[in-house]
Amino acid sequence: MVEETQSRIRRSAKRIKAHLRHVALTRMPVRLTSGGLTRNRMVRRLGITRRDIILPDLPDALDGLRIGHLSDLHVGDLIPPQRLPEIIAAANALEADLIAVTGDLVDLHLKVLPQVVAALADLDAPLGVYYVLGNHDHLVDGGQVAAALRDAGLNLLVNEQRMVDVRGCAIRVSGIDFAHRPIDLTRLVRRAIQPLHQRPVADLSLLLSHHPDGFDPACRHDVDLTLAGHTHGGHFTLFNGRGRKGSLGLGSLAFRYPRGLYRRGHRYLYVTTGVGSWFPVRFNCPPEIACLTLRSQADAAVDLSHP
Ligand SMILES: [Fe+2]
Repeated sequence: MVEETQSRIRRSAKRIKAHLRHVALTRMPVRLTSGGLTRNRMVRRLGITRRDIILPDLPDALDGLRIGHLSDLHVGDLIPPQRLPEIIAAANALEADLIAVTGDLVDLHLKVLPQVVAALADLDAPLGVYYVLGNHDHLVDGGQVAAALRDAGLNLLVNEQRMVDVRGCAIRVSGIDFAHRPIDLTRLVRRAIQPLHQRPVADLSLLLSHHPDGFDPACRHDVDLTLAGHTHGGHFTLFNGRGRKGSLGLGSLAFRYPRGLYRRGHRYLYVTTGVGSWFPVRFNCPPEIACLTLRSQADAAVDLSHP
C-alpha cells in the first residue's frame, strides 16, 4: 500500500515536471512565434535517410527487404495533427516491406490521440506496421495510448513478438516498452524474445525499442537489427552528416548511441533523429524518416558509421 502510494506520487511528480518543461520549452515558444517559426522549422525539413545494412547471414529471399522507420512524432503543440497526412504520405512513398514506429507518438496532448491513431492506420506495408511506446506516451497516459492503438487494430508490441512468414523465411518482430535503466531494458528484451529453447527459429530478428540502449541486451539475444529513437539526434550537432562526426554534440554527451547506424559484429542498431520533438530547435540535426534496406552482399553500398 505504502509502495503503491509512493509510486503514484513519483508518477505525478514526473508528470508535473514534464508539464512545466512543456510550458517553458514548447508551448511558450510556439505562442511567442504565433506558431509559425517552430511548426515550420520542425517539419519542413523532414527528409528521407536511406541506408543499406549488410547482414551476411540474410537468406537470399530477404535480400533487399526494405524497412521504413519513423519515430518521435510528438504530435501536439510543435507538430500539429494537420501535418500528419504529409508525414504518412512520405512514409508510404518509401514502399517499404515493413514499417516500424518507435514511440513518442503524442506530446502531452491526449486530445490529438484519435487523429494520430487515424493517421497511423493509413501507414501501409505488406509485412505489417509495428509500434512501441515511448516515454512521452507514458507521460501523457501510456495505457490510453496503448488502448487507442489496439482498438484501431494496430500492431502494438509491449514486450512481445510476432512471427512473420515471407517467401519461405521467418522474420521475428519484437518490441519492448520504454525503460531507460539497462537492467530494465535487459528484463524487457528477455521477456519479449523468449529463451533460446522456447524461441521459434527466425531467419531475421528485429527489435523495436524506443530507447537505443535496448541494443545491448538485443545483441545478447541474437537480434539482427534494433530500431530506436528517443534521442532526436541530440538536437544540436557540430556537423551535419553521417558517422561519428555527425553525432558529435549534445546527443553524444547524453546518450551512448545518439544518432545513426551502429554495428557490433553482425548486429546493427539504427537510431533515427525522429520526425518531431518537444524542443523547438534543431541544429545540424534535421528530422527524418529512415529507409533501411537489408542486404546479404558485402558489395552493397553500406556506410558503417559507428563500427
Ligand atoms: Fe521523443
